Amino acid sequence: MGFTFTNLAISVTDLRTTYVSEQGILDVLNGISLSIPNGQIFGIIGRSGAGKSTLLRCLNGLEKPLSGKIYIQKKMLGTKQSHERRKILHKIGTVFQHFNLLSRRTVLQNIALPLEIMGISPKEIKIKARKMADLVGLSDKYNSYPNQLSGGQCQRVAIARAIVSDVTLLLCDEFTSSLDPETALEILSLLRDLNQRLGITIVLVTHDMSVIREICDQVCVLDDGKVVEIGTIESILLRPQHPVTKSLISHLFTKDLPRTIHETLHAKPLKNDHAVLRLMFSGKTSSRPTLASAIQKFKVPLNIIAGNLGHIQEVTCGSMIVTLPLQGTPKKDEQLPKLLDYFQTHGIAAEILGYIPQP
Ligand SMILES: Nc1ncnc2c1ncn2[C@@H]1O[C@H](COP(=O)(O)OP(=O)(O)O)[C@@H](O)[C@H]1O
Ligand SMILES: [Mg+2]
Repeated sequence: MGFTFTNLAISVTDLRTTYVSEQGILDVLNGISLSIPNGQIFGIIGRSGAGKSTLLRCLNGLEKPLSGKIYIQKKMLGTKQSHERRKILHKIGTVFQHFNLLSRRTVLQNIALPLEIMGISPKEIKIKARKMADLVGLSDKYNSYPNQLSGGQCQRVAIARAIVSDVTLLLCDEFTSSLDPETALEILSLLRDLNQRLGITIVLVTHDMSVIREICDQVCVLDDGKVVEIGTIESILLRPQHPVTKSLISHLFTKDLPRTIHETLHAKPLKNDHAVLRLMFSGKTSSRPTLASAIQKFKVPLNIIAGNLGHIQEVTCGSMIVTLPLQGTPKKDEQLPKLLDYFQTHGIAAEILGYIPQP
């Protein structure tokens, strides 16, 4: 990648971890290498069990890898307890799905906790904790207790606590999973704000593509402890390569599939079937002329059955479901691959969702 080492917040090479259980040795991280530039919001997505939390725990020192190297802002994170290691880890804050707030402490007292541990003077702690509470939008809740707060407000406290000691890196593990969608969006926009105002690099781990879509600059897809795909959010969403990436994205768009199609959709084509395709385009691509010219060029009666406008951050993107009859016998259909190629070269991501009987 085109980033110089000095601009990297995190650099990981060939990271491996294993768990020993009754069933034997389980390889959890199978040689992960990745680089995250300073100032980015970097998403790590994958199915449950892919190794996302394990990777995050290696980054924040909660877990020691079996082998491989981790550099945090140019400094190697050693595995031995040392002053150096603690100094590096002090620059990293983490938030989890469960806020882990202390119920008998107020908002300010919760936020102050890391500063108390560091032995900072009470006067300075008070100033800092208030500043943080203000920054995350809790200026009217200084003295409230966690059970007097909503889930979103609790997560704001957790974020303030995670960054109060001037961290440069914030790691988030599935941290919007227990919030309703609207609150999750508010928290994501708070993160974007902190990223821009304080320059904090953010690493977001999730199984949910809709979280990634909102704020991430770059995304890496983990599967089975390996990086299977990495790229900008736009390239991942519009030109996914790996089956796991495709399946994670498909959850974003299956909503627009009509029920009748859902019920008859099958994976293997039969005689006289119609193929069901999903086309995705970004605001930069104009879809209409491409569709029209494809119909002319390939002489296929494309039928648009559903459409939907979505977004990738501020860029509009659309998805469209079309059907078309297979030509000749299903196995020998040469038209379909050519059509998919044609879309691809015109900036439209096309994917076969399956087949349905002649409508
Ligand atoms: N403490 C542990 N002991 C044994 N196996 C574990 C432990 N933690 C995680 N695993 C296993 O490691 C794999 C990856 O887990 P995890 O990193 O939590 O995945 P993810 O966060 O992507 O869902 C899973 O197969 C999980 O069962
Ligand atoms: Mg996890």
